[in-house]
Amino acid sequence: MVNLVAIQQPLIILLMKMAGVQTHTIEIDPGTFMNFWLPNETLRKTTKNSKPTTITPNPNKPVVVIVHGFAAEGIATWQFQIGPLTKKYSVYVPDLIFFGGSVSNSPDRSPRFQAECLVKGLRKLGVDRSVVVGFSYGGMVAFKMAELYPEMIRAMVISGSILAMTDSISEQTLKGLGFSSSLELLLPDSVKGLKALLSVATHKKLWFPDRLHKDYLEVMFNNRKERGELLEGLIVINKDTIIPEFPQRIHLLWGENDQIFKMELAQNMNWQLGENTSVEGISKAGHLVHIERPCVYTRCLKKFLASLPVDDPQS
Ligand SMILES: *[C@@H]1O[C@H](CO)[C@@H](O)[C@H](O)[C@H]1NC(C)=O
Ligand SMILES: *[C@@H]1O[C@H](CO)[C@@H](O)[C@H](O)[C@H]1NC(C)=O
Repeated sequence: MVNLVAIQQPLIILLMKMAGVQTHTIEIDPGTFMNFWLPNETLRKTTKNSKPTTITPNPNKPVVVIVHGFAAEGIATWQFQIGPLTKKYSVYVPDLIFFGGSVSNSPDRSPRFQAECLVKGLRKLGVDRSVVVGFSYGGMVAFKMAELYPEMIRAMVISGSILAMTDSISEQTLKGLGFSSSLELLLPDSVKGLKALLSVATHKKLWFPDRLHKDYLEVMFNNRKERGELLEGLIVINKDTIIPEFPQRIHLLWGENDQIFKMELAQNMNWQLGENTSVEGISKAGHLVHIERPCVYTRCLKKFLASLPVDDPQS
């Protein structure tokens, strides 16, 4: 039987092509490859059959990098945001290592490793400065990028995420949701498990036929072993967490009904991160706020991007 999720892939690729982004894989280090969706005008072919090479993005279109969460890769996560952004912005959508087509033979499973790979990849693509939008796991990677490479990040939009997954937040969250481990919650291996994840991640109950759940499991949850290790690599000990001082503007854009990372956590972070941080809640939306209320989310995102001062790294 055909896989209902897999057969949609060519359609998504076509829609993305119409929106002006195309897929391209780059070698980060020997053995590490990262897949990016990037502005088609940055891809060049010298002859018809040669491999495309990339050029730096149009200096008049600010770069926005949008980073996915744990249960899907870049395009599936951001399908509703990419199109509306490409007119004014150079949009880069990475697949983090072990998601989409991205792989590595490195044993490192830390968010720091993801951040380092992403930054190396962006530099190879000629991107020196960008706004980063990060959802959930992608938000933790975004925070790491800003901590390690502050000069590269103009500003951040963070949704449904935290600075680092401490053991106490992890325990509290899972206990509140009735799951025994983050593996059970975030790496479901059955239709029942995936339904449980979707019901926790959304405000309204979405209805899909079982078939679709099954096909989604097959397509989106490959590299299971490595992803389990990524989850383990996420937990840090409470006492080891320090809050870095971020010079950037940070906008915390949240689903008010997020049950995984509650609005209170966003409010706390807003307070901890200081004067250059703002928080905004979107009503009737859970963790998957960008999918549940795509238009509102995109509108808020665009408003924040438009409010940023024109970038001048020299100043
Ligand atoms: C990029 O995609 C847009 C939208 O589909 C299209 O109008 C444009 O011609 C494409 N540019 C290149 C260089 O392929
Ligand atoms: C907030 O941003 C301003 C302007 O970029 C900067 O001078 C200031 O140090 C920032 N504040 C914090 C707490 O990082």
